[in-house]
Amino acid sequence: MLSERLRVVAAEPVGPYTLLRVTRGGLDPGVPGQFFMLEAPGRLLPRPMSLCLAPPGELAFLIDAIGPGTRALCALGPGDAITVLGPLGNGFDLDVTRPLLVGGGIGVAPFPFLSEALGRPPALLGFRSSHHAEAAALVPNAEVVLEPEYVTERLRPGFDVLACGPEPMLEAVRALAPDAQLAWEAPMACGYGACYGCAVELGGEWKRLCVEGPVLNGHDRGQSPAMAETGVAA
Ligand SMILES: Cc1cc2nc3c(=O)[nH]c(=O)nc-3n(C[C@H](O)[C@H](O)[C@H](O)COP(=O)(O)OP(=O)(O)OC[C@H]3O[C@@H](n4cnc5c(N)ncnc54)[C@H](O)[C@@H]3O)c2cc1C
Ligand code: FES
Repeated sequence: MLSERLRVVAAEPVGPYTLLRVTRGGLDPGVPGQFFMLEAPGRLLPRPMSLCLAPPGELAFLIDAIGPGTRALCALGPGDAITVLGPLGNGFDLDVTRPLLVGGGIGVAPFPFLSEALGRPPALLGFRSSHHAEAAALVPNAEVVLEPEYVTERLRPGFDVLACGPEPMLEAVRALAPDAQLAWEAPMACGYGACYGCAVELGGEWKRLCVEGPVLNGHDRGQSPAMAETGVAA
Protein backbone atom coordinates (compact mmCIF):
# COMPACT_ATOMS: atom_id res chain seq x y z
CA MET A 1 0.00 0.00 0.00
CA LEU A 2 1.47 3.32 -1.11
CA SER A 3 0.34 6.91 -1.33
CA GLU A 4 1.39 9.00 -4.28
CA ARG A 5 0.55 12.30 -5.93
CA LEU A 6 -0.68 11.50 -9.43
CA ARG A 7 -1.55 13.63 -12.46
CA VAL A 8 -4.90 13.48 -14.17
CA VAL A 9 -4.63 12.27 -17.76
CA ALA A 10 -8.31 12.77 -18.64
CA ALA A 11 -11.83 12.84 -17.21
CA GLU A 12 -14.10 11.27 -19.84
CA PRO A 13 -17.90 11.00 -19.75
CA VAL A 14 -19.35 7.47 -19.87
CA GLY A 15 -23.11 7.93 -19.89
CA PRO A 16 -23.83 9.87 -16.65
CA TYR A 17 -20.55 8.68 -15.09
CA THR A 18 -16.97 9.96 -15.43
CA LEU A 19 -13.94 7.82 -16.19
CA LEU A 20 -11.10 9.53 -14.31
CA ARG A 21 -7.75 8.46 -15.73
CA VAL A 22 -4.62 9.25 -13.72
CA THR A 23 -0.96 8.41 -14.19
CA ARG A 24 -0.04 5.22 -12.35
CA GLY A 25 3.22 6.45 -10.80
CA GLY A 26 4.67 3.70 -8.64
CA LEU A 27 1.28 2.39 -7.46
CA ASP A 28 0.36 -1.26 -7.92
CA PRO A 29 -3.11 -1.78 -9.45
CA GLY A 30 -3.69 -4.63 -7.00
CA VAL A 31 -6.40 -7.27 -7.31
CA PRO A 32 -9.79 -6.46 -8.93
CA GLY A 33 -12.25 -5.44 -6.22
CA GLN A 34 -9.57 -3.71 -4.15
CA PHE A 35 -9.99 0.04 -3.82
CA PHE A 36 -8.02 3.27 -3.60
CA MET A 37 -8.61 6.40 -1.49
CA LEU A 38 -8.69 9.42 -3.82
CA GLU A 39 -8.11 12.95 -2.55
CA ALA A 40 -11.26 14.93 -3.34
CA PRO A 41 -10.16 18.55 -3.95
CA GLY A 42 -11.60 20.95 -1.39
CA ARG A 43 -12.83 18.15 0.90
CA LEU A 44 -11.24 17.06 4.16
CA LEU A 45 -11.50 13.30 3.59
CA PRO A 46 -10.50 11.20 0.59
CA ARG A 47 -13.16 9.09 -1.17
CA PRO A 48 -12.94 5.29 -1.75
CA MET A 49 -13.04 4.16 -5.38
CA SER A 50 -12.68 0.70 -6.94
CA LEU A 51 -10.11 0.40 -9.68
CA CYS A 52 -11.97 0.22 -13.01
CA LEU A 53 -9.13 -0.21 -15.49
CA ALA A 54 -5.35 -0.46 -15.38
CA PRO A 55 -4.03 0.37 -18.85
CA PRO A 56 -0.23 0.61 -19.10
CA GLY A 57 1.03 3.54 -17.04
CA GLU A 58 -2.44 4.52 -15.83
CA LEU A 59 -5.13 3.84 -13.23
CA ALA A 60 -8.74 4.60 -14.16
CA PHE A 61 -11.78 5.05 -11.89
CA LEU A 62 -15.42 5.15 -12.95
CA ILE A 63 -17.15 7.74 -10.78
CA ASP A 64 -20.80 8.57 -10.15
CA ALA A 65 -21.03 12.23 -9.07
CA ILE A 66 -23.52 11.91 -6.21
CA GLY A 67 -22.15 14.46 -3.74
CA PRO A 68 -19.46 17.10 -3.14
CA GLY A 69 -16.48 14.72 -3.13
CA THR A 70 -17.37 12.79 -6.25
CA ARG A 71 -18.38 16.03 -8.02
CA ALA A 72 -14.94 17.53 -7.22
CA LEU A 73 -13.24 14.41 -8.60
CA CYS A 74 -15.32 14.48 -11.78
CA ALA A 75 -14.47 18.18 -12.28
CA LEU A 76 -10.72 17.46 -12.44
CA GLY A 77 -8.97 18.12 -15.73
CA PRO A 78 -5.78 17.00 -17.48
CA GLY A 79 -2.67 18.07 -15.55
CA ASP A 80 -4.44 18.43 -12.18
CA ALA A 81 -2.83 16.46 -9.33
CA ILE A 82 -4.46 14.38 -6.57
CA THR A 83 -3.06 12.14 -3.86
CA VAL A 84 -4.05 8.49 -4.25
CA LEU A 85 -3.58 5.76 -1.62
CA GLY A 86 -3.80 2.05 -2.35
CA PRO A 87 -4.46 -0.65 -3.28
CA LEU A 88 -6.55 -1.33 -0.16
CA GLY A 89 -8.76 -4.09 1.24
CA ASN A 90 -9.47 -7.56 -0.13
CA GLY A 91 -10.47 -8.00 -3.75
CA PHE A 92 -12.28 -10.84 -5.53
CA ASP A 93 -10.96 -14.39 -5.32
CA LEU A 94 -10.04 -15.13 -8.95
CA ASP A 95 -9.86 -18.90 -8.43
CA VAL A 96 -13.31 -19.61 -9.92
CA THR A 97 -14.28 -22.10 -12.62
CA ARG A 98 -17.47 -20.60 -14.14
CA PRO A 99 -17.48 -16.88 -13.37
CA LEU A 100 -20.48 -14.64 -13.92
CA LEU A 101 -20.18 -10.93 -13.12
CA VAL A 102 -23.42 -9.46 -11.77
CA GLY A 103 -23.63 -5.71 -11.27
CA GLY A 104 -25.92 -2.77 -11.01
CA GLY A 105 -25.43 0.92 -11.76
CA ILE A 106 -22.07 2.32 -10.66
CA GLY A 107 -21.44 -1.16 -9.18
CA VAL A 108 -20.06 -2.09 -12.60
CA ALA A 109 -17.00 0.09 -11.79
CA PRO A 110 -14.61 -2.78 -10.84
CA PHE A 111 -15.81 -5.10 -13.63
CA PRO A 112 -13.64 -3.98 -16.59
CA PHE A 113 -10.47 -4.80 -14.56
CA LEU A 114 -12.08 -7.96 -13.14
CA SER A 115 -13.26 -9.12 -16.57
CA GLU A 116 -9.75 -8.75 -17.96
CA ALA A 117 -8.30 -10.77 -15.05
CA LEU A 118 -10.86 -13.58 -15.53
CA GLY A 119 -10.57 -13.83 -19.34
CA ARG A 120 -13.72 -11.87 -20.26
CA PRO A 121 -16.47 -14.01 -18.64
CA PRO A 122 -20.19 -13.26 -19.19
CA ALA A 123 -21.63 -10.32 -17.27
CA LEU A 124 -25.19 -9.46 -16.30
CA LEU A 125 -25.49 -5.72 -15.77
CA GLY A 126 -28.54 -3.82 -14.55
CA PHE A 127 -29.17 -0.11 -15.08
CA ARG A 128 -31.98 2.30 -14.45
CA SER A 129 -31.88 3.78 -18.00
CA SER A 130 -30.20 3.32 -21.37
CA HIS A 131 -28.09 6.43 -20.60
CA HIS A 132 -26.68 4.73 -17.48
CA ALA A 133 -26.25 1.52 -19.49
CA GLU A 134 -23.61 3.22 -21.66
CA ALA A 135 -21.17 2.09 -18.94
CA ALA A 136 -21.76 -1.52 -20.07
CA ALA A 137 -19.54 -0.76 -23.09
CA LEU A 138 -16.56 -0.97 -20.70
CA VAL A 139 -17.39 -4.59 -19.78
CA PRO A 140 -16.84 -7.34 -22.41
CA ASN A 141 -19.62 -9.93 -22.96
CA ALA A 142 -22.19 -7.91 -21.05
CA GLU A 143 -25.93 -8.60 -21.14
CA VAL A 144 -27.77 -5.41 -20.18
CA VAL A 145 -30.96 -5.46 -18.11
CA LEU A 146 -32.97 -2.24 -17.82
CA GLU A 147 -35.41 -1.43 -15.02
CA PRO A 148 -38.13 -2.36 -14.28
CA GLU A 149 -36.48 -5.74 -14.91
CA TYR A 150 -33.76 -6.75 -12.39
CA VAL A 151 -30.57 -8.75 -12.97
CA THR A 152 -31.72 -11.31 -10.40
CA GLU A 153 -34.62 -12.24 -12.72
CA ARG A 154 -32.06 -13.52 -15.25
CA LEU A 155 -29.69 -15.18 -12.79
CA ARG A 156 -29.31 -18.90 -13.51
CA PRO A 157 -27.73 -21.55 -11.25
CA GLY A 158 -24.35 -23.14 -11.96
CA PHE A 159 -22.17 -20.03 -11.98
CA ASP A 160 -19.55 -18.60 -9.64
CA VAL A 161 -21.19 -15.22 -9.09
CA LEU A 162 -19.03 -12.14 -8.45
CA ALA A 163 -21.27 -9.16 -7.69
CA CYS A 164 -21.06 -5.44 -7.03
CA GLY A 165 -23.90 -2.97 -6.77
CA PRO A 166 -26.42 -1.36 -4.44
CA GLU A 167 -27.11 -3.15 -1.17
CA PRO A 168 -30.64 -4.37 -2.04
CA MET A 169 -29.23 -5.93 -5.23
CA LEU A 170 -26.45 -7.67 -3.29
CA GLU A 171 -28.99 -9.00 -0.78
CA ALA A 172 -31.17 -10.33 -3.62
CA VAL A 173 -28.14 -11.92 -5.32
CA ARG A 174 -26.96 -13.70 -2.21
CA ALA A 175 -30.48 -15.00 -1.52
CA LEU A 176 -30.27 -16.77 -4.91
CA ALA A 177 -26.52 -17.55 -4.89
CA PRO A 178 -25.37 -17.90 -1.26
CA ASP A 179 -21.76 -18.64 -2.32
CA ALA A 180 -21.50 -15.44 -4.37
CA GLN A 181 -18.61 -13.06 -3.78
CA LEU A 182 -20.14 -9.67 -2.98
CA ALA A 183 -18.41 -6.27 -2.98
CA TRP A 184 -20.06 -4.21 -0.22
CA GLU A 185 -19.85 -0.50 0.52
CA ALA A 186 -19.77 1.52 3.73
CA PRO A 187 -18.74 5.11 4.37
CA MET A 188 -14.94 5.09 4.70
CA ALA A 189 -12.79 7.85 6.18
CA CYS A 190 -9.33 6.27 6.22
CA GLY A 191 -9.53 3.06 4.16
CA TYR A 192 -6.87 1.15 6.13
CA GLY A 193 -8.39 0.21 9.47
CA ALA A 194 -7.64 3.27 11.63
CA CYS A 195 -11.00 5.02 12.10
CA TYR A 196 -13.67 2.27 12.46
CA GLY A 197 -15.97 4.43 10.31
CA CYS A 198 -16.74 1.45 8.09
CA ALA A 199 -17.75 -1.05 10.79
CA VAL A 200 -20.28 -3.66 9.65
CA GLU A 201 -21.60 -6.79 11.31
CA LEU A 202 -19.71 -9.90 10.20
CA GLY A 203 -20.45 -13.26 11.81
CA GLY A 204 -22.07 -11.56 14.80
CA GLU A 205 -19.18 -9.14 15.39
CA TRP A 206 -18.54 -5.59 14.28
CA LYS A 207 -15.60 -5.54 11.88
CA ARG A 208 -13.99 -3.01 9.60
CA LEU A 209 -15.17 -3.46 6.02
CA CYS A 210 -12.04 -1.77 4.66
CA VAL A 211 -9.88 -4.48 6.25
CA GLU A 212 -12.10 -7.60 6.03
CA GLY A 213 -13.66 -6.59 2.68
CA PRO A 214 -14.91 -4.88 0.69
CA VAL A 215 -15.36 -8.24 -1.09
CA LEU A 216 -16.94 -10.87 1.18
CA ASN A 217 -18.39 -14.30 0.63
CA GLY A 218 -22.21 -14.35 0.77
CA HIS A 219 -22.07 -16.33 4.01
CA ASP A 220 -19.67 -13.94 5.76
CA ARG A 221 -21.95 -11.02 6.39
CA GLY A 222 -24.98 -10.98 8.67
CA GLN A 223 -28.12 -9.13 7.79
CA SER A 224 -27.04 -5.71 6.59
CA PRO A 225 -28.05 -2.67 8.69
CA ALA A 226 -30.20 -1.20 5.91
CA MET A 227 -32.05 -4.46 5.43
CA ALA A 228 -32.50 -4.88 9.18
CA GLU A 229 -34.04 -1.40 9.40
CA THR A 230 -36.50 -2.04 6.58
CA GLY A 231 -37.23 -5.55 7.79
CA VAL A 232 -36.34 -7.09 4.41
CA ALA A 233 -35.19 -10.71 4.77
CA ALA A 234 -31.56 -11.50 3.81
C1 LIG B 1 -14.83 0.19 -1.29
C2 LIG B 1 -15.63 1.24 -2.02
C3 LIG B 1 -15.48 1.37 -3.38
C4 LIG B 1 -16.22 2.35 -4.06
N1 LIG B 1 -16.06 2.45 -5.41
C5 LIG B 1 -16.72 3.41 -6.08
C6 LIG B 1 -16.50 3.57 -7.48
O1 LIG B 1 -15.72 2.84 -8.12
N2 LIG B 1 -17.20 4.56 -8.10
C7 LIG B 1 -18.05 5.40 -7.41
O2 LIG B 1 -18.63 6.30 -8.03
N3 LIG B 1 -18.27 5.27 -6.10
C8 LIG B 1 -17.60 4.29 -5.42
N4 LIG B 1 -17.81 4.17 -4.07
C9 LIG B 1 -18.75 5.09 -3.39
C10 LIG B 1 -18.09 6.45 -3.21
O3 LIG B 1 -16.95 6.31 -2.39
C11 LIG B 1 -19.07 7.44 -2.59
O4 LIG B 1 -20.12 7.65 -3.52
C12 LIG B 1 -18.41 8.75 -2.30
O5 LIG B 1 -17.50 8.59 -1.22
C13 LIG B 1 -19.45 9.81 -1.97
O6 LIG B 1 -18.77 11.01 -1.68
P1 LIG B 1 -19.46 12.42 -1.95
O7 LIG B 1 -18.72 13.46 -1.20
O8 LIG B 1 -19.61 12.64 -3.43
O9 LIG B 1 -20.91 12.26 -1.43
P2 LIG B 1 -21.38 12.28 0.12
O10 LIG B 1 -21.99 13.61 0.42
O11 LIG B 1 -20.28 11.78 0.99
O12 LIG B 1 -22.48 11.16 0.04
C14 LIG B 1 -23.67 11.31 -0.71
C15 LIG B 1 -24.69 10.31 -0.17
O13 LIG B 1 -24.20 8.96 -0.32
C16 LIG B 1 -24.05 8.33 0.97
N5 LIG B 1 -22.80 7.59 0.91
C17 LIG B 1 -21.58 8.07 0.64
N6 LIG B 1 -20.65 7.11 0.61
C18 LIG B 1 -21.30 5.98 0.87
C19 LIG B 1 -20.91 4.63 0.98
N7 LIG B 1 -19.65 4.25 0.78
N8 LIG B 1 -21.86 3.72 1.29
C20 LIG B 1 -23.12 4.07 1.47
N9 LIG B 1 -23.57 5.32 1.35
C21 LIG B 1 -22.68 6.27 1.07
C22 LIG B 1 -24.03 9.45 1.97
O14 LIG B 1 -24.52 9.03 3.24
C23 LIG B 1 -24.94 10.47 1.33
O15 LIG B 1 -26.29 10.15 1.54
C24 LIG B 1 -17.11 3.20 -3.37
C25 LIG B 1 -17.24 3.06 -1.98
C26 LIG B 1 -16.53 2.08 -1.32
C27 LIG B 1 -16.68 1.94 0.15
S1 FES C 1 -12.42 3.30 6.78
FE1 FES C 1 -11.30 3.68 8.61
S2 FES C 1 -11.39 1.76 9.60
FE2 FES C 1 -12.32 1.34 7.70
